[in-house]
Amino acid sequence: MDQKTVLITGCSSGIGLSLAVHIANDEKKRFMVYATMRNLSKGEALVEAAGRTLGKTLEIKQMDVCDENSIKACVDSIPERRIDILISNAGVGLIGPIECQSIEEMKAVMDTNFFGMVRLLKEILPDMKKRKSGHIVVISSVMGIQGILFNDIYAASKFAVEGFCESLAVQALRFNLNITLIEPGPVVTEFERKVFEEGLKTDLSKADKVTADMFTNIYLKNYKQIFDTFGQTAEDIAEHTFKIITVESPPFRHQTNSLYTPMTTLKYADPNGDLPIDIFYKMVFEHDKVFNASLNFLKLLRWRSRKSFTLDKPKA
Ligand SMILES: NC(=O)c1ccc[n+]([C@@H]2O[C@H](COP(=O)([O-])OP(=O)(O)OC[C@H]3O[C@@H](n4cnc5c(N)ncnc54)[C@H](OP(=O)(O)O)[C@@H]3O)[C@@H](O)[C@H]2O)c1
Repeated sequence: MDQKTVLITGCSSGIGLSLAVHIANDEKKRFMVYATMRNLSKGEALVEAAGRTLGKTLEIKQMDVCDENSIKACVDSIPERRIDILISNAGVGLIGPIECQSIEEMKAVMDTNFFGMVRLLKEILPDMKKRKSGHIVVISSVMGIQGILFNDIYAASKFAVEGFCESLAVQALRFNLNITLIEPGPVVTEFERKVFEEGLKTDLSKADKVTADMFTNIYLKNYKQIFDTFGQTAEDIAEHTFKIITVESPPFRHQTNSLYTPMTTLKYADPNGDLPIDIFYKMVFEHDKVFNASLNFLKLLRWRSRKSFTLDKPKA
């Protein structure tokens, strides 16, 4: 059986690293993984985790998703430029009131999370179309469906990803290509630490008192607890994604965290869009005690939903 080539972006840490190692360790050796990162000097953790797969089913390559030349050079270096499965994972976060963020900071988030994926596809999609085969997997987020307080720009970048992929999916079908959006809730990785530490450093002098207080005393105060309660591991996301790339008929969307599903379902329950906004408002400002109690309850339930998930599609 031919080995499939998998190219993954952002493998220096977190989900990308776990994904690369998990796929390269496939018992049946069905995949050759090209694990890419923008800065090869950050490769130590991946080299260590890859172990004996390095040089066999896993190879590390340089790729900065914000640099078209680096993307082209990387793809050109792959035999016949053949990528069967592309996993667009590289991403950055940003939290805080928009009046305290510069347009440059915001553009950097869009440039990585949205245009990074678009640049990749511009390079790889034409070859997939020619071959009439390929699977494009994008690590999106539940924030690609439902915006969250003080994540305005990050959620916008993931909404952009989702809108783009939804538009492309119909065309892709014509070429026999699959697209899947993986939508994790919170995942405990470097991302969480970096975003929180940057959040703590936010210069709130440009925000009014109510906004600054909301960010510090509600959002940042609950941040860690939300990750503790809902947070999955990078390995959890790797397991879900592995199932997605090995299933015969992959879904267009896959949420990895069933504890989060009720929140994203609110979106579809009310075409006016008021229901999720009202509920989030009440949770944050009127029922903080209930909110905290619910988090503790969910923590208890968490172990039940961790491993069991199916990819069943509703019957047409
Ligand atoms: N953690 C969460 O709670 C969570 C939840 C939902 C979705 N996600 C998504 O999951 C993906 C992976 O995040 P993670 O949690 O694994 O975070 P992470 O540990 O911070 O990993 C992010 C990766 O993206 C890389 N990256 C950033 N800019 C890049 C660029 N221009 N070119 C190439 N690589 C670049 C980083 O490289 P450097 O080491 O060089 O910075 C790093 O390898 C992101 O798309 C994120 O939005 C995360």
